[in-house]
Amino acid sequence: MTHERYWIFIDIICCDHSAFLAQQDAERRLREGSPLRDKPSCCWLAPAFNWHSGTSSMFTNRSLPRDFLEKLESLEVAYLVEDDSIRQSGFSGGPRRWRAEREPILEAIEMNGDILDVGCANGFLLECLIAWAGERGITLTPYGLDQGAQLIELAKQRIPDYRSNFYVGNAWDWEPPRRYRYVYTLYDCVPPAFFEEYVYRVLVRMVDTGGRLIIGAYGSHSQGTSPFDIKGFLESGGFSVAGTAEGGNPPITSFAWIDRMNRRNNLIH
Ligand SMILES: C[S@@+](CC[C@H](N)C(=O)[O-])C[C@H]1O[C@@H](n2cnc3c(N)ncnc32)[C@H](O)[C@@H]1O
Repeated sequence: MTHERYWIFIDIICCDHSAFLAQQDAERRLREGSPLRDKPSCCWLAPAFNWHSGTSSMFTNRSLPRDFLEKLESLEVAYLVEDDSIRQSGFSGGPRRWRAEREPILEAIEMNGDILDVGCANGFLLECLIAWAGERGITLTPYGLDQGAQLIELAKQRIPDYRSNFYVGNAWDWEPPRRYRYVYTLYDCVPPAFFEEYVYRVLVRMVDTGGRLIIGAYGSHSQGTSPFDIKGFLESGGFSVAGTAEGGNPPITSFAWIDRMNRRNNLIH
């Protein structure tokens, strides 16, 4: 682990006191010429060290499993069969439930800014979030990413003023042209074994300094499944959860968000 790489990880997700102390400790050791610790004192940076020790790359070079990618492709086919905007977004509960179960995303959005929906399908969620945020006096600029080229084409038609803000790509390895104030993603955009690294990837690559990553999970009334416990998962991985919300009655969607506060952004590439 080079000193520079140690700094990068301290800086990437430096948003709680333990990370601040770790940075102070590193600064002192560098000043004194003492060796840096093998691992930082804050547990939530430890996974990053495990992934990268002895490698020159920031992340693992794993690819998403073939069967998962095939499932994503079949998702696009299933959505495109539908005419209804909500169903084209993978939701079958109708407009009232759609709003009740999606609008709580805005609890994480406190000010104007750009928002990237990772897995935006036909762009309907973005269109709704812009309108609902507008009712709260908040202006959002939409950006969207989806692996489905035809879904992205629909999103461009839906929000033509921002058609150049929509991209085809896979969230796991997409290299965005810039970073965004708000990034929304579902936890199941990658298989469970990839999720923790996915959170780091999205934070580092997509979320702007001072920005917020909002993660959603949708349960299913018809299948009797509760939403995945995002907050619990993030906290068990050592992330500081800045807030949570849930939607539906009884609650069937859940959201948790983490902030990217960075005091040495110049070290992040
Ligand atoms: C259920 S829809 C979500 C639509 C909208 N964002 C929402 O939350 O209501 C899931 C969308 O995410 C896309 N998606 C899932 N995993 C993805 C990945 N790894 N990269 C890019 N798109 C992905 C799918 O193609 C699909 O269009």
